[in-house]
Amino acid sequence: MSDLPASQVRELANAGFGRGDVERFWFGEGHLPTPAFIRAAAIAALEAGDTFYEHNNGRAALRRAIATYLQARHVRHFEPDRVTVCSSGVSALALAMQAVLDPGDRAVVVTPVWPNLTGIPALLGAQVVRAPLTPADGRWRLDLDRLLETATPETRLLVINSPNNPTGWMLPEEDRAPILEHCRRHGIWLLVDDVYERLVFDPALDTAPSFLALAEPEDRLLGANSFSKTWSMTGWRLGWLVAPPQLEVDLGKLVELSTSCAPGFVQAAGIAALERGEPDVQELRHALTARRNELLPELRRLPGVEAPTPQGAMYAFFRLAGHPDSVELARRLAAEAGLGLAPGAAFGPEGEGWLRWCLAAAPERLSSGLGRLARWLETHG
Ligand SMILES: Cc1ncc(COP(=O)(O)O)c(C=O)c1O
Repeated sequence: MSDLPASQVRELANAGFGRGDVERFWFGEGHLPTPAFIRAAAIAALEAGDTFYEHNNGRAALRRAIATYLQARHVRHFEPDRVTVCSSGVSALALAMQAVLDPGDRAVVVTPVWPNLTGIPALLGAQVVRAPLTPADGRWRLDLDRLLETATPETRLLVINSPNNPTGWMLPEEDRAPILEHCRRHGIWLLVDDVYERLVFDPALDTAPSFLALAEPEDRLLGANSFSKTWSMTGWRLGWLVAPPQLEVDLGKLVELSTSCAPGFVQAAGIAALERGEPDVQELRHALTARRNELLPELRRLPGVEAPTPQGAMYAFFRLAGHPDSVELARRLAAEAGLGLAPGAAFGPEGEGWLRWCLAAAPERLSSGLGRLARWLETHG
């Protein structure tokens, strides 16, 4: 525990709290509260006295609603016994890793990535091996052959987050089958973090290419998902894990030993989000696509900026020539330009030299942030 690094995004943001003059793009969340009908569902549940312990794996109505939702997204049948409801996406990831990792196990993680995906296996005593994405021709890319070599037969777990936080990289559809086959051949568990699967910028795609669409129920596949990003519910702490049906009982035991259950009135809100939230999901996705299309060309016009095109999630990940230390640069931008960005080093060594800018903000705030960066570059660039 003591060896775990503190979140560098949090460190910077905490230093900036209370300062009114900083445009904040540090965190991965939007500026709008949860849609009103979802809040109303929770209020109605509370008014009705929905304040008791729940089933460890989640209430049946929510598990059914998630299975129906997955079926629509991935054009494949899902039984509710494959779904365990939990208190957030990060709980889903923690449950999944607790379920399959022993101390000393090899866990290969595609990076750079949101640090919890490497922090949780480290906390469990696993040996974390990084499989880096690299920027080339204006996009972040995965070297598939290299990944398969890194995921040796001794590997217990392979972790892939697509669309990826922080780079916006999205796993190409054609890479899924060879990865799944490789994992099947060597008995490797595949944990996919799908929390940004609906936030994709290609208008022809409604959901990012997913392993859930390919895999059989009995495959060693674990799918973590969350209400946080898709339905603007970060503060509610509600998520789910898709797992083979034979893990259902054991996952219930793990939930019992951590949170015991997700709150009932929060689950009621989750059902409303799944059943009636599709227009809001589309609106968010279109807004993020528009923000990306506005911000990226403007960023690239600035001197010394390299900004690969994100294909999904909610971030621009870019770097400034001559500024290799991202923590130092992020500190200076906050102090000297009033611009709050996350340092790429927070997402691992592959992110060093890069900055993450959350796109989920009002257009005028993004323009104000761009103006601040442009003025700072004129004097300090
Ligand atoms: C890649 C990724 N996975 C999971 C999560 C967890 O989201 P939550 O715990 O709010 O559901 C986040 C949040 O930023 C994320 O970026």
